[in-house]
Amino acid sequence: MRGYFLSVEGGDGSGKSTQIKKIIAYLQEKGLEVVFTREPGGTDIGEKIRELILNPSHQEMTAKTEMLLYAASRAQHVEEKILPALAAGKVVLSDRFTDSSMAYQAYGRNLGDMVRVVNEIATNRLKPDLTIFLEISPKDGMARKQNQKAHTLDRMEQEQMAFHERVAMGYDAICQQEPKRICRIDATQTMDAVFAQIQTALDALLVSNAV
Ligand code: TYD
Repeated sequence: MRGYFLSVEGGDGSGKSTQIKKIIAYLQEKGLEVVFTREPGGTDIGEKIRELILNPSHQEMTAKTEMLLYAASRAQHVEEKILPALAAGKVVLSDRFTDSSMAYQAYGRNLGDMVRVVNEIATNRLKPDLTIFLEISPKDGMARKQNQKAHTLDRMEQEQMAFHERVAMGYDAICQQEPKRICRIDATQTMDAVFAQIQTALDALLVSNAV
């Protein structure tokens, strides 16, 4: 049996890390073996690419270089880690996947359809079975973030508000294109209310594939 491929999307202040922990615990309670991973990163090569992309001193990085580096990290991730785990019947849970590139590079950086094409090459058209999108407006996300402890902003976080607004529009478009795959959740609700919605989506996926 092939395992399940799940991804979680959501920006600053969306509560993504907390919900990921809850998802892992929930799936493990059901006896499933979960491989947790992230993008950019997930492999040794991917983690090195991550450092290159997010390093705030790399201000000269062009939009196309950035798109290709995210895609390179993803190509390695898919072949080295995700596909073998799925073939072994495991559940793969990735913190971000191709939807991030569509939102941040296609919409945020205005690179458009080229991002889709490059990512089809990188992933061999692999898509998550289910994507949990924790939606929060850039303004609300930032307000929440400011209540958390200070950290140095990475290169993407340093971007202007207008960039993050375009990213949000990108996610909106992606959600409308694939409403079945993407479970869109209002992340301004309480943690418990958000997880209740995630649980419903996970249960539906597991039931629909039960033998
Ligand atoms: P990370 O520290 O993982 O941020 P977050 O907690 O918001 O997930 O940094 C990943 C950053 O890279 C984040 O700003 C989103 C961005 N990103 C892209 O622009 N394109 C991509 O394809 C991916 C995977 C991430």
